[in-house]
Amino acid sequence: MNKVKVVFWSGSGNTQAMADAVASGIRSAGAEAEVTTFDSLSPSDAANESVIAFGCPAMGAEVLEEGTVEPFIADYETKCSGKKVALFGSYGWGDGQWMRDWQDRLTAAGASIIGGEGVIANNAPDDDAISQCEDLGRQLAQA
Ligand SMILES: Cc1cc2nc3c(=O)[nH]c(=O)nc-3n(C[C@H](O)[C@H](O)[C@H](O)COP(=O)(O)O)c2cc1C
Repeated sequence: MNKVKVVFWSGSGNTQAMADAVASGIRSAGAEAEVTTFDSLSPSDAANESVIAFGCPAMGAEVLEEGTVEPFIADYETKCSGKKVALFGSYGWGDGQWMRDWQDRLTAAGASIIGGEGVIANNAPDDDAISQCEDLGRQLAQA
């Protein structure tokens, strides 16, 4: 059976709730999901997956979390050409700029973004955001 990794960073649980919803969408489509954190695998491990999901909230000033996720993605983007990548994350007061920048970086590096754009949720994901995450999971299972 197809197994899809859902890799996330979350400081206060909102992006983690999105990761769990992505995983439940993957499972509802009949595939296996492995939910894990950015510090539990290497960028090379991630680049060995033809299909993968990454979740990170808006941090700093509209950037990825800088301790773990930013260096991970800076390395991953040198290795991700041809990969199918799903992106998701929570934000607070911004307008999603961090996610547009993240999509643009990976697209420029040759990856394709599943669903065309990342799924974002304002703070704790509401029912609509949860169902968008589940839908993203179903797309990952079929990618
Ligand atoms: C240090 C810090 C920086 C943040 N920077 C931004 C930001 O630039 N733009 C934004 O929309 N939200 C920002 N936020 C809000 C978080 O993105 C928001 O609280 C999000 O729900 C956190 O997700 P998490 O629970 O997965 O950690 C920031 C929060 C923190 C703690």
